[in-house]
Amino acid sequence: MPRIGDTAPAFTAESTQGTVNFPADYVGSWVILFSHPADFTPVCTSEFMTFATMQEDFARYNTKLIGLSVDGLYSHIAWLRTIQEKMTYRDMKNVEVTFPLIDDVSMNVASKYGMIMPGEATTSAVRAVFVIDPAGLVRTILYYPLALGRNFDELLRIIKGLQTADEFDVALPADWRPGERAIVPPAGSCGVAKDRMSGEDTDVECVDWFFCTRDLPEETIEKALTER
Ligand code: BEZ
Repeated sequence: MPRIGDTAPAFTAESTQGTVNFPADYVGSWVILFSHPADFTPVCTSEFMTFATMQEDFARYNTKLIGLSVDGLYSHIAWLRTIQEKMTYRDMKNVEVTFPLIDDVSMNVASKYGMIMPGEATTSAVRAVFVIDPAGLVRTILYYPLALGRNFDELLRIIKGLQTADEFDVALPADWRPGERAIVPPAGSCGVAKDRMSGEDTDVECVDWFFCTRDLPEETIEKALTER
């Protein structure tokens, strides 16, 4: 299975939106490739409704969604029709899922990505999430068990965080939200460490020489990430 920093495995698969050729169809985009255990199950239904409702939020950050389960294409189509016609969750209803949902009956893609966890289920994928950047590299991997739905605010925060870290050459502390202070790269010399601690570098505030932050306004991030 791929690890963070590896090239995401290529695949071709049928989906509810036609054939998916990855990565060829996604050149230049960030991708969230995620698996779910089974169609017509409640947690998965709530997740799909949430993902579909947030699709535009992800698109704003140049991010496309690809879902997958080891169910077949006709099951997928029937389930997505049921979601749109009958399902309500929180304030969501009449939700149309327009991102591709891959038919992976052969478990070809699930096996390549390590989405099957025999200790949890042998015949279905767990709730795996692979965040893949425009260079085709895996940047984040998350696994959730069958009984717990994913946190979609966190998925969006991951996208914004990775793109912010890349764009501004910063790292982001625990529970960071856009607009909060960002961590600057460690001082590479005793001189820089001294300057930072003496207040010489006025853009940077240091708690100690190895823990220095800088202001990074949300508007600056939004402009950089959404206007390119
Ligand atoms: C669900 O999505 O509700 C679910 C799927 C597989 C096992 C348990 C729950």
